[in-house]
Amino acid sequence: SVLEMEVEQIKKGSYDHFMQKEIHEQPHSLTTTMRGRLKDGGVLLGGLKEHLKTIRRCRRVVFIGCGTSYNAALAARPFVEELTGIPVTMEVASDLLDRQGPIYREDTAVFVSQSGETADTLHALDYALENGALCVGITNTVGSTLSRKTHCGVHINAGCEIGVASTKAYTSQIVAMAMMALAIGSDQISTQARRNAIISGLTSLPNSVSEVLKLDAEMKELASSLIDSESLLVFGRGYNYATALEGALKVKEVALMHSEGMLAGEMKHGPLALVDENLPIIVIATRDACFSKQQSVIQQLLSRKGRLIVMCSKGDASAVCPTGSCRVIEVPGVADCLQPVINIIPLQLLAYHLTVLRGFDVDQPRNLAKSVTTQ
Ligand code: AGP
Repeated sequence: SVLEMEVEQIKKGSYDHFMQKEIHEQPHSLTTTMRGRLKDGGVLLGGLKEHLKTIRRCRRVVFIGCGTSYNAALAARPFVEELTGIPVTMEVASDLLDRQGPIYREDTAVFVSQSGETADTLHALDYALENGALCVGITNTVGSTLSRKTHCGVHINAGCEIGVASTKAYTSQIVAMAMMALAIGSDQISTQARRNAIISGLTSLPNSVSEVLKLDAEMKELASSLIDSESLLVFGRGYNYATALEGALKVKEVALMHSEGMLAGEMKHGPLALVDENLPIIVIATRDACFSKQQSVIQQLLSRKGRLIVMCSKGDASAVCPTGSCRVIEVPGVADCLQPVINIIPLQLLAYHLTVLRGFDVDQPRNLAKSVTTQ
């Protein structure tokens, strides 16, 4: 029965915590996000179909969300711009409201929310509706306020997420937005080859996720070496700027350790002053167009005796750290714009193990609620 299925779904099975279960579930949740939607080399999103023409004509896309959902939108921004040619701006829901920032009839406002019930996001939705924008919802909750009030949207179908720390919803949100970008851009002949490459990348993504999950024991070991650190920096750029913000958010919200995600391109403009031999710094340097820039960031950090943990593509350990003095996390390579889906997973595992080792509550971090329904 449906009830039995629901009871089954909320059980932790063989896992100690929901966060752990949800991290390890990602090959499956990503499969259900894509199920029935990748067809004959194209993408079919029933909830958007009727609105694609309007979206293609819009003057900009505005992504709006909070926390992890904002970070997922930030991960999507580069490929949405690339595949649609439409400028994308980012708004944290509360900040858009604080500023009463301009939203126009010619805008497509894309609201991202796992629960579909986050108060800040829903208030921003009311505001965008009043201003006449086309409002699109990306949510994990069928029948939520967000999915009812938006004009159209995409359900991410990741399955119920129980841990307060969002994990599988994050990766499914990125994949849902990748499919959205492919659908919006599908009238452009010049990007057909690129779209095909991304579609085949999506198809093989669940396998690569299974592979990266094998880093579990290694991340537990890394966590034990960081257990007494006061702070952890994460540097990313390009497609993986969002990975840096989201990795740091996971560490601060569950492991209760200070952590900041930073744009590597901003390092010289302030954060470099923090570098010494004690502060652990994760640098994301997987293969993409920004790789050589990240190599020089690593060089600069090493010359200041930084304590580095470098995430790189398989086989790139000596390319990212010729001195051999960094700790290296090697991850499988996927299509560059989908790499954030892979790269966040070792950081989710790290945050999880750090929390358990530090003796904190993984599924119910202090002071936090799963869905923030007050402003
Ligand atoms: C994620 O780990 C956090 N618990 C939090 O940032 C969350 O993503 C945010 O509150 C937004 O929630 P929503 O996706 O349900 O709108």
